[in-house]
Amino acid sequence: MNDATLREIMRRDDRFLGRAMKIRFFPIAPDRAEGTRIYDVNGRSYLDFTASWAVANVGYGHQRVKESLIRQWERLSCCSLTSVFQATSISLAERLVELVPGDFAKKVWFGLSGSDANDCVAKMLPMASGRPRMLSFMGAYHGQTMGSLSLSGHSAQAKFLGLPNVVKVPYPYCYRCPFGKVPSGCGLFCLTFIEDYVFKTVCPPEDTAAVIVEAVQSDGGDVVPPAGYLQALEALCKKHGIYLVLDEVKIGFGRTGKFFGFQHEGVVPDAVVMGKPMAGGFPMSAVVARQEILDAGTATHLLTVAGHPVGCAASLATIDAVLDEGLLENAALVGAYLRKGLQELKQRHPLIGDVRGRGLILGVELVKDPGSKQPATGETAKVVYRAFELGLLVYYVGIHSNVLELTPPLTLTKEEAEEGLAVLDQALAEVAEGRVADEKIKEFAGW
Ligand SMILES: Cc1ncc(COP(=O)(O)O)c(C=O)c1O
Repeated sequence: MNDATLREIMRRDDRFLGRAMKIRFFPIAPDRAEGTRIYDVNGRSYLDFTASWAVANVGYGHQRVKESLIRQWERLSCCSLTSVFQATSISLAERLVELVPGDFAKKVWFGLSGSDANDCVAKMLPMASGRPRMLSFMGAYHGQTMGSLSLSGHSAQAKFLGLPNVVKVPYPYCYRCPFGKVPSGCGLFCLTFIEDYVFKTVCPPEDTAAVIVEAVQSDGGDVVPPAGYLQALEALCKKHGIYLVLDEVKIGFGRTGKFFGFQHEGVVPDAVVMGKPMAGGFPMSAVVARQEILDAGTATHLLTVAGHPVGCAASLATIDAVLDEGLLENAALVGAYLRKGLQELKQRHPLIGDVRGRGLILGVELVKDPGSKQPATGETAKVVYRAFELGLLVYYVGIHSNVLELTPPLTLTKEEAEEGLAVLDQALAEVAEGRVADEKIKEFAGW
């Protein structure tokens, strides 16, 4: 913080970059990155448990992705897939159709961000079904554009009214069940609630095009639904002829230990949304859906440079890296190891109320005390800040801003997991002892 170069970069950032695009947790100015490490402008190294919000699944600067991207750039640096036939982009579409389960005809739509891909869902599902309504979940984060923010149920999007056709229901957040139930005896009451109350009142099923859901509700607090929930939701959708859409933007491409997060539950969605890590860091998104959904209208949701050949080449290499380099296995193995370490920290730190996750998406919910479960929001911001000072990058999420989120590159080793755990251990202890001043986080409001 005393460093003049960093201060000058921060001053220019404050002067020229709008606050609308910022969630800042600590003062880092990255200069370069490699694998699981980020180096700041002073050459200081950080172990990255964020992967830049779950983008760098294959690690930073992956060689295979880099070569593929450069090769494509040298051959054809850009084109607009809207109006040409481009083989690399089609190859990626073919690959994605193969990867997404479902024994029916599927097609692909390409975009640039998770948000515009969820806008595709917001437009095309009602158009394809002839039904106007959509159902989504409280706590869900689907993006910041108008369609995707309308589908979202996160406090980050509540500043805008959004579209009126979306009804939101509680997600199965069992640690804080909104119905006051406990998982062992609830009989998935939150699903009964949809069928017996929501469908009978504000959201008639015959008017409902689709349900959109995250298999791990990530920005809502890294909440994992109880076993059987997604299958029961799928059955409910089938019963009423409603499309099931899985938003895999954050957890797809291997993060949970399977290529898609919903594959842990064996469901077969009608549409799958992907983004963030799919092109190894290059901005790109996609929707893979039943053919009738993406063929429902011509030129109804198109972006000039979507399906960019360079992004598609990078994505093909990213898929190969995830599948051929053992990243699914590593995410499962190191994820379980990290989770066990976090459970051990929970024994020693009363600040930790819950540890949850799947593979290498892990959430650590901090509470004032385990009995009341009162969210420890300020403490969470301080732990994140102190971890940064100690050389570990980690962000927080959650509707109460009190969940440490661990989404490292899927190349993380057990030794690196240990390194991160040691930092979290120290940061949690120092925050609990009141040794991290309020002053430190004053400029860093997070979200
Ligand atoms: C599940 C999910 N969907 C969609 C988005 C939006 O993606 P983007 O920020 O790339 O537009 C996010 C972003 O965090 C996300 O977590």
